[in-house]
Amino acid sequence: MSISETKNSKVAEGELALLGGTADAPNFPAWPQYGPEEEKGLLEVLHSGEWGGYNPRVPELEGKFAARHGTRYGVAMANGTLSLAAALQACGIESPSDEVIVPSYTFFASASSVLLAGASVRFADVDQASLTLDPAAVEASITPQTRAVMPVHFAGHPANLAALKEICRKHNLILLEDAAQAHGAAFQGQPVGSWGDLGSFSFQASKNMTAGEGGMIVTNNEDLANKVWALTNQGRKKGGKWYEHYVLGANYRLTGFQAAVLLAQFARLDAQVKLREKNAAILDRELRANPQLGLAPVGRTAAVSSHAYHIYVTRYRPEALDGLSREKFVEALVAEGVPCSTGYPMVLDDQPVFHAEKLAGRAHPGDVPNSRQAVAEVVWFIQRVLLGTEQDVYRLLEVFEKVRRNRGKLKSGK
Ligand SMILES: Cc1ncc(COP(=O)(O)O)c(C=O)c1O
Repeated sequence: MSISETKNSKVAEGELALLGGTADAPNFPAWPQYGPEEEKGLLEVLHSGEWGGYNPRVPELEGKFAARHGTRYGVAMANGTLSLAAALQACGIESPSDEVIVPSYTFFASASSVLLAGASVRFADVDQASLTLDPAAVEASITPQTRAVMPVHFAGHPANLAALKEICRKHNLILLEDAAQAHGAAFQGQPVGSWGDLGSFSFQASKNMTAGEGGMIVTNNEDLANKVWALTNQGRKKGGKWYEHYVLGANYRLTGFQAAVLLAQFARLDAQVKLREKNAAILDRELRANPQLGLAPVGRTAAVSSHAYHIYVTRYRPEALDGLSREKFVEALVAEGVPCSTGYPMVLDDQPVFHAEKLAGRAHPGDVPNSRQAVAEVVWFIQRVLLGTEQDVYRLLEVFEKVRRNRGKLKSGK
């Protein structure tokens, strides 16, 4: 999970009372959203008897999703971790002497996929403005071993793809976009996934388009698409014989059931992207106009033409609330029914697994002050917070105001 869902967290009764109850709390839409379209599609697959990855709905989804992201080819996969690993392997990046530059502020899978592919990771910092991979940090991290750069469109905010593409061109590196959190996003009017040699998406349960699990590689490169397909399909050749295997692939296929659900989810994607952007713009404006609420939006950079808002990201300012800790602040919001969290608990460089003896020399930590600052400061709001009405957004702002009013009591815990 990229987001620690907060809906199941246990909040003590006393804390609820502290904030005066939840009667006027906003009522955000549940996630996932689904309707008769998902039900119809699932039943059709059920009755077709073609339940697996060779159901025709899989190529239908691949075609539609790839086209929406400005690419000719899509390969549906079991999840967005294996898709990243297969993308690297398709490029021949699978030896410990092959380095991939990955941001320090991202979900585990961005880096674990590199190691699972057999290559090595070099961590680089994110920029302050977007919390995505900083092109200057990438330049500084390039070594003779560097083979690829993996920007992550964290929270649905596209990384600086123009600058990163230019760096990759100059140094002859593969650009692999981790767009797991960025369905439908675009940079300078061009969809994410189409800037890189390959783009990778996730359809895991928390994602903006989901079938519970799932992933997809998109690309304009036919050869790479065929290689990813072969890795996903037990090393077969497209159109080749079932029992003939040419590369060391496995079964990473998405099922017909998942494709049916995702086709229905896909039909809602554009409207949901629009709604999230509209509600995020209100929050941006109001939070900037009311710094006393203690939340500074991270916002979006000018080149972002479409932001997927998988997460609405803010920086918490304890000084605005007389030093109330970020943890207490988030606990209070959760008690009011607001799904939010403090996000990734550490930079990826510090994750214990990357220091395990087994991986010695294959995960290179970086100098990553911006990522460390993000770990210490941010408050994330889950995307469904932006799928309600305008009134819900204003109710959310009222909750922030309520917490601010009660900051003294919250701080002392009385
Ligand atoms: C940035 C990022 N990359 C990769 C993944 C991995 O996707 P999956 O959970 O589908 O394997 C996720 C999400 O979980 C993610 O947030």
